[in-house]
Amino acid sequence: MRDSDRSKPLVEAAALARKNAYSPYSGVKIGAAVLTKKGRVYSGCNVENSSYGLSCCAERTAIFNAVSEGHRDIEAIAVVGESEEFTSPCGACRQVMIEFNPRMKVFRRGADGYSEDTTAGELLPSHFNPEGLSRR
Ligand code: THU
Repeated sequence: MRDSDRSKPLVEAAALARKNAYSPYSGVKIGAAVLTKKGRVYSGCNVENSSYGLSCCAERTAIFNAVSEGHRDIEAIAVVGESEEFTSPCGACRQVMIEFNPRMKVFRRGADGYSEDTTAGELLPSHFNPEGLSRR
């Protein structure tokens, strides 16, 4: 099965969530959707704030949505931005993906529904590892 076929339902969920983007400051609308091991889909959009630094990306909204519903086994995430633009997750979101699954598939949609298939680990090599935390 081609990546574009496998990612289609997730890309569609991300595109739907994108419509809810709250981005009055940047004007950029992003949607994301995650697929859990049990086959559940959770989506999210970017949510901005007048105190700009408080804004949250679509990817993190989607992941936090899944985790807060009790689903940490995230297998894949799709990200959808402006239709002709290839949207790639920011560094902060990559680290959050790593937290739950370094092998998480990442589908980034470009023009014509094309999806490039990669993983969270590939997008953030040499990342900070929770094992690096010292325990008291
Ligand atoms: N944004 C995302 O939602 N995901 C990304 O991967 C990059 C950026 C949002 C954050 C902000 O609301 C807007 O896009 C512009 O940076």
